[in-house]
Amino acid sequence: MIKIPENVADLVTYEHGKRFEVITEKFRPEEIAKLSSNENTNGASPKALAAMQEAIKDSHWYPDPACLDLRRKIAAKFGVGEENIVVGNGSEGLISNICRAFFESGDELLTSINSFVAVYITARAANIPCIKVPMKEGYKLDLDAILAAVTPKTKAIYLANPNNPTGTMFAAPEFAEFMSENSRDILVILDEAYYEFARYLSPDYPNVSFLDYDNIINLRTFSKAYGLAGIRIGYGVANEPIINALLKVKLVFEPSVIAQAAGGGAIEDEEFLQRAVENNKQGLDYFHREFSDLGLPCFESFANFVMIEFPDSERAMEISSKLLEHGVIVRPLKSFGLPHCIRITVGQPWENELCVRAMREIL
Ligand SMILES: Cc1ncc(COP(=O)(O)O)c(C=O)c1O
Repeated sequence: MIKIPENVADLVTYEHGKRFEVITEKFRPEEIAKLSSNENTNGASPKALAAMQEAIKDSHWYPDPACLDLRRKIAAKFGVGEENIVVGNGSEGLISNICRAFFESGDELLTSINSFVAVYITARAANIPCIKVPMKEGYKLDLDAILAAVTPKTKAIYLANPNNPTGTMFAAPEFAEFMSENSRDILVILDEAYYEFARYLSPDYPNVSFLDYDNIINLRTFSKAYGLAGIRIGYGVANEPIINALLKVKLVFEPSVIAQAAGGGAIEDEEFLQRAVENNKQGLDYFHREFSDLGLPCFESFANFVMIEFPDSERAMEISSKLLEHGVIVRPLKSFGLPHCIRITVGQPWENELCVRAMREIL
């Protein structure tokens, strides 16, 4: 009998957002809005699609392990060197590589509760203790409390900005203070999965990178604003020693030929990006207006989703189930430690309207 290590045996796997089948098999509504996984309902970047089509014919070749074409394109966009960019199988793949590259036995990861659950799971799978600090009012990350929880064992601090699932953001001055007080020996993993949306929504979104601090890595993804969640491609920006460590531990041939090509097409697709961030802004405004009108507490979001709070978990579950009957798939947040809340991704205007109409009827 193979002994499964305790950290794997008791690991609770990631509960993903419900897919179309949950509705089509049961209710057969006329229209379905899948607003459960913060995907991009504008579709995928056309430039990424074209680049993938072109790359398919190279499927019999292994990908470039150094991913140079893509790293150069990303570097050029941000005015840094290719030695400052690493790419991976989505930001989740990069988080997994970070766990392998920097942690030694006894090191701990420090973060917040009610944040991106896949990080807790990835750390546990790698046998890294993950210390979670409570949030402050309004479901905001408490950067002061996180700093106060640092111990000699803290190797890295993970901060999602904006945070998933709350959509809240910390602004530039708060983050500058945090960085100036944090030890330079502690790696700050700044997960900016919703970077493009947040930058469009707020002039106060922090613009901080390795150019300011040598102990930070910015994680970004093509899954959200560029509509490539199914392809698995993301990137990290950091100083050369951090990037080199990550290049050493990555799977030799990750990401795939297709994924590298997709990223290269997407990063040049300003037109699609503009459409996605503008649609998101309109959708957020609409949700905030309509949900406030319905008396539902809906927190200001800087990402491509909103979080709504209900009096208790029963009500949140009931609303999520009833929305399914109306063809609307949302995300109940029990697995994020917020059982009384649900998260709704911004969709196309007709999807947002379907959701609000359904909510109005249910309430
Ligand atoms: C904060 C955060 N980080 C990372 C990810 C995963 O991104 P990727 O698809 O690049 O792995 C998500 C996806 O929902 C997220 O919300």
